[in-house]
Amino acid sequence: MSPISTTLAAVAAASLVACTVERAPAPPPPGSSAVSFDEAAWKPPAESDIPNDSMGTSIRRGLALLRFTPESLPKYVHSNVRCTSCHENDGLKATAVPLTGVHARFPKYNARSGKVITLADRVNFCMTRSLAGAALPADSREMNDMLAYLAFISRDVPMGRKLSAVDGLIPMKDTLPGDTLRGRQLYATTCALCHQADGAGKSPIPALWGPQSYSIAASMARAERAASFISHNMPQTAPGSLTPQNAFDLAAYINSHPRPDSPLKENDWPTGGAPRDVPYATKGHAAFNPPARLLPRVSTH
Ligand code: HEC
Ligand code: HEC
Repeated sequence: MSPISTTLAAVAAASLVACTVERAPAPPPPGSSAVSFDEAAWKPPAESDIPNDSMGTSIRRGLALLRFTPESLPKYVHSNVRCTSCHENDGLKATAVPLTGVHARFPKYNARSGKVITLADRVNFCMTRSLAGAALPADSREMNDMLAYLAFISRDVPMGRKLSAVDGLIPMKDTLPGDTLRGRQLYATTCALCHQADGAGKSPIPALWGPQSYSIAASMARAERAASFISHNMPQTAPGSLTPQNAFDLAAYINSHPRPDSPLKENDWPTGGAPRDVPYATKGHAAFNPPARLLPRVSTH
């Protein structure tokens, strides 16, 4: 071989090696994330990590909207419930529907609406149902700010990755029938101090029923979801002190009271399959212990 062809052969061999090396890592198994991510070591950034730039300003405004929702959005929210009334500790508390990593989980299929929805749609679900308010325009500054905060507490979580420690409210092991009479007695001794005897709360303590509370189409209006929230987070001063039966009794009592209606709720679960304790009728599902409904609301969708 001439020196030139030897060099060419060496270059060819080298580039072959380079190609082989580049191709070397095995493709990730289906369904796993291509990005390496150590979930056990991951923590959401702290409020003090919010940058001091225009992005940081938006994140801070978003956090303020989550904390002071009725005060900040009086045209949209008429309840005295704020995002952090349920998503406690700024959306970081593990037992209270954590919002950490949520930005990586959307868009996703939502059985209740029978379609794939964006994170803005999901925020608006809570606006119209949990806050019994009106939907924010998807391109509004307020929505962008809330999404900026949600992206911030999802920092470094790969797209499509569902954090195993995070999946809405922790399901209750057994579904127990709730007794409203026992619930009423327990409410008077352990809850009324903060949420008031008439359930109306006293800002910043949220209402549990009545015109300022969550609507009939909120997840919290379902016995099992409310029992989970209550058993893991309430009473605020001694979470974990109630038995599962106590939590179901309190959920039954709270959800037996009148609350705001939610327009078009009968269109939920359009392909059927509503959970058993949904308190209104949907396709193939009869209402479970429906409460009286207050205030005819204008369409919010
Ligand atoms: C009355 C309680 C309540 C209030 C108030 C509330 N939410 Fe929610 N939210 C829930 C519950 C419960 C779920 C989970 C539903 C489920 O899994 O059954 C949820 C789910 C979510 C999700 C999806 C979480 C995920 O992992 O898929 C987002 C995002 C969200 N809420 C944002 C908000 C924002 C923003 C606000 C304020 C505008 C708000 N929520 C107010 C109860 C509430
Ligand atoms: C020491 C005051 C206090 C006591 C006692 C208390 N709560 Fe709460 N509760 C709160 C506060 C404050 C929030 C809002 C969450 C936050 O700010 O961290 C809340 C939120 C809630 C929520 C979710 C928000 C909503 O509007 O639905 C439910 C449900 C609830 N409490 C039920 C109960 C029940 C049931 C009891 C009795 C076992 C109880 N609470 C006792 C202070 C209290």
